[in-house]
Amino acid sequence: MSPDTASEDAFRFDGRTVPFRPGQTVGGALAASGVVSWRTTRGGGEPRGLFCGIGVCYDCLLSVDGLRSQRACVTRARPGQDVRSDDPDAPLPAPTARSAPRPAPEGTDS
Ligand code: FES
Repeated sequence: MSPDTASEDAFRFDGRTVPFRPGQTVGGALAASGVVSWRTTRGGGEPRGLFCGIGVCYDCLLSVDGLRSQRACVTRARPGQDVRSDDPDAPLPAPTARSAPRPAPEGTDS
């Protein structure tokens, strides 16, 4: 092990070990390891990976610890994570306060 990698942790990505540095995202660690695409578009099968890098475009979706459709660019890498190319059979993540539908304003019939 080189001195440069001595303090790195690692997660698993589709069966391979990917090292990361503290504070690095899953997408950043994958890119640093030479992995630049991990899913394809539904229509044309075009490769996708990091694009915007700030959580806006959703091009970087993958599964993390069994939860599919996680954005690699904003998901912090953690030791021992099981990261996989997006798996259509994995459960969708539970809604969060930010993603849950908002109740209709009082006095409306929606
Ligand atoms: S790269 Fe755009 S949301 Fe992750």
